[in-house]
Amino acid sequence: MDCPNVLITAPSVGRKNATLICVPVIAESVEKMKIHMHKAKAEGADLVELRLDSLNTFDPFQDINTLIHHRPLPLLFTYRPKWEGGMYDGDENKRLDALRVAMELGADYIDVELKVAHQFYDSIRGKTYNQTRVVVSSHNFELTPSTEDLSNLVARIQATGADIVKIATTAVDIADVARMFQIMVHSQVRHVPLIGIVMDDRGLISRVLCAKFGGYLTFGTLESGVVSAPGQPSLKDLLHLYNFRALAPDTKVYGLIGKPVSHSKSPMLLNEAFKSVGFNGVYIILLVDNIANFLRTYSSTDFMGFSVTIPHKETAVKLCDEVDPVAKSIGAVNCIIRRPTDGKLIGYNTDYIGAISAIEDGLRGKHNGSSTVVSPLAGKLFVVIGAGGAGKAVAYGAKEKGARVVIANRTYDRARELADAIGGEALPLADLDNFHLEDDMILANTTSIGMIPKVDETPISKHALKHYSLVFDVVYTPKMTRLLKEAEEAGVTIVTGFEMFIGQAYGQFENFTGLPAPKKLFRQIMKDY
Ligand SMILES: *[C@@H]1O[C@H](CO)[C@@H](O)[C@H](O)[C@H]1NC(C)=O
Ligand SMILES: *[C@@H]1O[C@H](CO)[C@@H](O)[C@H](O)[C@H]1NC(C)=O
Ligand SMILES: *[C@@H]1O[C@H](CO)[C@@H](O)[C@H](O)[C@H]1NC(C)=O
Repeated sequence: MDCPNVLITAPSVGRKNATLICVPVIAESVEKMKIHMHKAKAEGADLVELRLDSLNTFDPFQDINTLIHHRPLPLLFTYRPKWEGGMYDGDENKRLDALRVAMELGADYIDVELKVAHQFYDSIRGKTYNQTRVVVSSHNFELTPSTEDLSNLVARIQATGADIVKIATTAVDIADVARMFQIMVHSQVRHVPLIGIVMDDRGLISRVLCAKFGGYLTFGTLESGVVSAPGQPSLKDLLHLYNFRALAPDTKVYGLIGKPVSHSKSPMLLNEAFKSVGFNGVYIILLVDNIANFLRTYSSTDFMGFSVTIPHKETAVKLCDEVDPVAKSIGAVNCIIRRPTDGKLIGYNTDYIGAISAIEDGLRGKHNGSSTVVSPLAGKLFVVIGAGGAGKAVAYGAKEKGARVVIANRTYDRARELADAIGGEALPLADLDNFHLEDDMILANTTSIGMIPKVDETPISKHALKHYSLVFDVVYTPKMTRLLKEAEEAGVTIVTGFEMFIGQAYGQFENFTGLPAPKKLFRQIMKDY
């Protein structure tokens, strides 16, 4: 394929932002690079970054010529040296020579590191290369500097004569990314094209929300797993999960605050639901170490709502301006909305609704579905393992329905505290196997024991499960936990965390959008899980 006149920034139809998506290609041969760049085009990328330092053998003139000749998309040539995080370990002059060759051959973009930018520009002085835009880049693999330092860095890079400024820093905390957004917005106002990337999982929002804040481009990988820098999302996720092309300056940001959060299905569910009703929002994973610091930093009306998960649900109660009475008595908030009228944060708990109704449905199903006014939980002995946020929510909900609640927790004092608060009993976790006051008890597992990757751990042995008529697990990845499998084998009715997850997702969608949740769509999207 020969496409000599590829447009560099032609906006796609229906696009809400001008931010380009660039696929980084790391491959040992020119042949593989050709395959990858065509795949990038087929999957919807705007340009491809070829990492020349990843080639096993490299003949600059011949190879760059071949690559340019076969390009289906504009190409960015990067020849990253070891001293800037790359793989090239040879002679510097040879490296810069190769970049000059790329310019002479009509590369669309080349990347030159800030440390050698002056030297590079001196070496091409007098010559004009109309085709090529030079990206001058600076990488910080330790941290993200202050806003002032970032601002000075932009100025220094501009002063080299760069066409495009690239700054990649590292997120030590998700709050670091806010400084990059500030710089991005300032640069856009001043018409300075800026690629601003904050690496690491804590920096994921920089790679998605640069479309909202006016970044020049973002990077998306072809296959998840093959990344050229920590924290890169896949091209498919950018386009289809985060709906990247539809992001605009007025897009409202929602997200899941937690640690860990990477395996959550919430982004898929909520983004798809937003799209289905035409809601101008994006829902993104937020790996947060300190929720107080996070909420303080992202306090503008760009950030309109959050789901909250382990380990921040209890702290969230103190950080909201107002807390729904139910959430307050549970002592945990799993949904925060910024009230549009005054920007205040209102906390809710939508967890217990999903959990309790799923358990009720499970019990009714077992007793031939007669849907009476009285909850099938009334009078039952209900054992809750765990005294954290989810444990509290389930315990509170069960108590509301008239169950007699027992809390089992490894830290007995925590169990005691929750039991006292709701008017129930406490049990040390070690005694759970021998706990048998009556038959037909209900067991709810709300600890994180058994979450990926420790899927083989269990809080209760199999032989003890026969005293229960229903076992419920809050975890939904994996849907079948060891506990649930063993309960099923023991002939006990099981309710998976999936039902609870769906139930709380309905609640959150309605809280975020003010619209009724598309329930059919939710189940359809989740049917494979
Ligand atoms: C480069 O730009 C200059 C000035 O705009 C123009 O005279 C020249 O023909 C261009 N050269 C190429 C190769 O496009
Ligand atoms: C016990 O309670 C603590 C705090 O409430 C919770 O974090 C922990 O997961 C619980 N552990 C078990 C095994 O129940
Ligand atoms: C949010 O959800 C809770 C629980 O379902 C509900 O009580 C509350 O009214 C909702 N708030 C808004 C603003 O939608």
